This record gives sequence, structure tokens and C-alpha cells, in this order.
Amino acid sequence: KKLSIIGMPMDLGQMRRGVDMGPSAIRYAGINERLVRLFHSIEDMGDITIGRPEVTIDKESNLRNLELIAEKSELLANVVNKIVESGSFPLVLGGDHSIAIGTLAGVSRHYQNIGVIWYDAHGDLNTAETSPSGNIHGMPLAASLGLGHKLLTNVGGYCPKVKPENIVIIGARALDEGEKILIKNKGIKVYTMHEIDRLGMTKVIEEAIGYLKERTDGVHLSLDLDSLDPHDAPGVGTPVTGGISYRESHLAMEMLAEASIITSAEFVEVNPILDERNKTAALAVALMGSLFGEKLL
Ligand code: ARG
Ligand code: MN
Ligand code: MN
Ligand code: MN
Repeated sequence: KKLSIIGMPMDLGQMRRGVDMGPSAIRYAGINERLVRLFHSIEDMGDITIGRPEVTIDKESNLRNLELIAEKSELLANVVNKIVESGSFPLVLGGDHSIAIGTLAGVSRHYQNIGVIWYDAHGDLNTAETSPSGNIHGMPLAASLGLGHKLLTNVGGYCPKVKPENIVIIGARALDEGEKILIKNKGIKVYTMHEIDRLGMTKVIEEAIGYLKERTDGVHLSLDLDSLDPHDAPGVGTPVTGGISYRESHLAMEMLAEASIITSAEFVEVNPILDERNKTAALAVALMGSLFGEKLL
């Protein structure tokens, strides 16, 4: 099996600079050394070029950096599309979570029924109408469902990318009112922190795997580091207390590896400026180890 790593150093989906350094921080934490034994070959394709664009706010929709994000997402979608075409596993390094729009645009065209595990404290199911912030990193899952601004939903030239019944959200604990309504109306499967506490991570992941196996032909893992407790992942822009633990997350990744259902992945929202000695990037790399089949013994 071949792995292709691509960095997406985009911080335009929110207001705290620094998350554009996420790919560097993750590479510095030793991604190659950690994964080299787990793949036949690893190719690091470097970063998508973002440059230093001026911040803009769309007059009509109030969305921050709408056009830039749409344009850069197109670039990522193209690269990810080619990686999947070549038979390699795409691993995308963020960047804020708005990058998922491009990743899914690149991946989803290769599947009839792509599944998505959204491992996150948030739902990222806002549209311009429901967003409390105007930040597009709170919208990528909605955009992938075909909801929201056309420039975001049509990245890759097709829409939608994913069906609501093929999504499982894990770790939610900060959902906006509009997101809660959407989850109910669309019947999206969500394991909030309540279910994780109550059932335990073992049961949650067993159920998620069973659910997705039944209805999908590939599963994308979109892992926002703010899903973890800020104690374990301090280097994120929107930390939410009471999160998933380090051990629970490793268990989740190990179980996904065992089930071998994950066909693409991204790790997002690592912000080294807000971090403690690169702890959050190191955590991301350790979780990748488990996701790709590393064994303790
Ligand atoms: N729900 C909030 C918003 O729409 C926060 C979103 C945080 N998203 C993230 N990917 N960290 O602004
Ligand atoms: Mn997120
Ligand atoms: Mn989040
Ligand atoms: Mn602790």
C-alpha cells in the first residue's frame, strides 16, 4: 500500500493565524519516520500554494474569504483526485477544517457512496444563514452535503459530495442551534460526548463501523484535533472543554485500522502558535500511527 501526503496550509476559514503552519508542525513531529514501516512507499507531495492573500468578506453572504477558499479548494481537490486515481491513500494535513471541502471533492467522485467519519467537537454544519461567525471552517460538512453557498458546494464541479445517512459525527459537544436542527431533519448519526461517556468508545466505534460498512463503499476520516480534550490537544483555534481523551482516540484509530474501512484521511486545525512544544502535532502523528496499523507489541 502506498501513502501520499499533501499539505494544505490554509488558515482562511477562521480568524486565528497560525493554523497555516499545521503541515510544517506535523512534518516536524516525525510523520515520515512514524509511518515508514506501515507502507510500501510514502510520497510527500509538499504543500498546496496558498500565498499571502488579503482577507476579504463577501458583501452578499458575509462569508470570510469565500472566493479564496473556493479557489484554493479546487487546487486541493485536483491533487487528491489524482492521488486516488493512482491507487495511493491520500492523507491531507491542514490547515483549518475548511480544507475538507477540497479533500472530499477530490475523493468522493471515486465512490458511489462515500462514508464520512467527522471526528470533531463541532458539527461544521453551518451555512451563511446559521453561522454565528461567518467562518467557513464551521461549514465544510454542510457544503459537502450540498448546503450553503454555491461556490463552496460546487467545488470539483459536482454536488453533493456525501449523503446525510453516510455521515457519522463523533465527539460533538459544541453544536449551534441551526446545526442541531439540520442534524434532526437530515437524520445524521451523531455520537456526542454523552454517548461516548455512556457507551464507551469501544461500542461507539463498533457501531459506527457496522453502520458505515452496511451502506458505504469507502470511508473518509476527517479528524479535527479539537475533538480531543484541550488538555491533550492545546494547539487548536477553537478548543472545547470536556473532550475525547488521548487513549480513547488511540483506541478509535486502532479499531478503524483493524476494520480496514478508511480509504482517505485528513488531520486538521493544528495551530503550532497556540500549542505547547508541538504537543498537538505530535498527537496527530501518533494517532496516524494507530490509524495505519501500528501495534504496541
Ligand atoms: N460552530 C462554530 C462556527 O460556526 C465553530 C466552528 C469550529 N469549527 C472548526 N472546524 N474548528 O463558527
Ligand atoms: Mn471541525
Ligand atoms: Mn472543531
Ligand atoms: Mn489528562
